[in-house]
Amino acid sequence: MSQAKVLHICLGSSCFSRGNKDLVAFIKEYLKKNHLEDKVVFKGARCMGNCSKGPNMKIGEDILIEGITLTGIEQILDREFSRLK
Ligand code: FES
Repeated sequence: MSQAKVLHICLGSSCFSRGNKDLVAFIKEYLKKNHLEDKVVFKGARCMGNCSKGPNMKIGEDILIEGITLTGIEQILDREFSRLK
């Protein structure tokens, strides 16, 4: 588990209402489908202070990904996690 990555999705009210509500379900399904559930720790987070560019999520401590959409999320997850598959 030492190389598990942490993925935080913002569940602040702005990001939640702008799409993260649906993205949570998509990401959970994606991790399951790709057998990544034990390699990626998926957590909800409070407002990241970047509401105007949301919906946001963070990978690890430093990588902030802004303006996520349901159509673009899979590509982002593939890019970030393909090495773990
Ligand atoms: S609610 Fe997501 S950054 Fe503020």
